[in-house]
Amino acid sequence: MDQTPGLAKETGPSLHYPNQGQFHIMKYLKGLTDAIIRMGGEIYTETHVEAIKEHELIANGHVVKADIIVVATNSPINDLVTMHTKQWPYRTYVVGIKVAKGAVKHSLWWDTGDKDSKWVTEPYKYTRLQSLDDQNDLIICGGEDHKTGQADDEGIPEENRYDVLIEFVRQNFTSAGEIIYKWSGQVLEPLDCMAYIGKNPGNDSIYIVTGDSGNGMTHGTIAGMLLKDLVLGKENPWAKLYDPSRITLKVAGDYLKEAGNMAAQYTDLIAKGDVESVNEIPSGEGAIITKGLKKVAVYKDETGVIHSYSAICPHLGCVVHWNANEKTFDCPCHGSRFTYTGEVVNGPAVSGLEKISLKQDQS
Ligand code: FES
Repeated sequence: MDQTPGLAKETGPSLHYPNQGQFHIMKYLKGLTDAIIRMGGEIYTETHVEAIKEHELIANGHVVKADIIVVATNSPINDLVTMHTKQWPYRTYVVGIKVAKGAVKHSLWWDTGDKDSKWVTEPYKYTRLQSLDDQNDLIICGGEDHKTGQADDEGIPEENRYDVLIEFVRQNFTSAGEIIYKWSGQVLEPLDCMAYIGKNPGNDSIYIVTGDSGNGMTHGTIAGMLLKDLVLGKENPWAKLYDPSRITLKVAGDYLKEAGNMAAQYTDLIAKGDVESVNEIPSGEGAIITKGLKKVAVYKDETGVIHSYSAICPHLGCVVHWNANEKTFDCPCHGSRFTYTGEVVNGPAVSGLEKISLKQDQS
């Protein structure tokens, strides 16, 4: 089509895919979990896995034995290095804005923007419509992705990324009204844009699902079909395509660029901290400070109490960065994330930041 339908701003030509379906993610997951339980499966939530090896894992301090282990944890927590050199973590942002029912046609708009491209200099955005209530729909617009822990390097801090999306919605959907949701998430971008689904490189009994590139529902469904065959020893035509051990020479340039970016993060070990002293940190904020040879992640809570941890990520030793939007410490190397009280909330790290004492009178 010469002009993308439904958007107020000029876009130029676009591809149009008619007759697409849309389903409710939570209802879909509910159906899946019900089916697992109905067929005799058991689901344990609130279960933290600390270690995984062939036929065995440790969860909440208990040893669990298994013929086959599938690690479907966004970032694989079983693999220390290999898979983390083949994919990179990005933060992505989403806003939900009310619009009168019927004012915007049900569609999904998805551009191919890439700020690193020589033709397009904006990060991509994705926009779709969701029914909200009897009178309203919700315009859900996401994008403005950046490498985890590196938003400031690109000149737009995490917390300001929503403003860019809101502006985009207002320009393209003039009937857009009240902003009612904002959230951010994390996606793993694989080297060649295809997810990694299959046997973990170097293992016999451990399978992984990762590199979803923002298409987790699609890849999760593919993984369910593909892994069933692999585990049962059946042939599957998709096995090679998604094989985590594949080598993609066509994207060697991208690999070197991403690997260089990752290596550059280690220079933070000798760089100055964000601030000189804890006194410079406002209440409710965090920062990295340098104490002698140490890097310290500091959070000052709303009452002025200081929480301090080693800023060294327990995965492979990069220095974490403060994320003012999520109030977390994020690792720019492979995407581990930690709450302001030091607990790990995103792998590949499986443990939290080490607590260290930082007396305020030494600040
Ligand atoms: S996530 Fe790998 S060093 Fe932090």
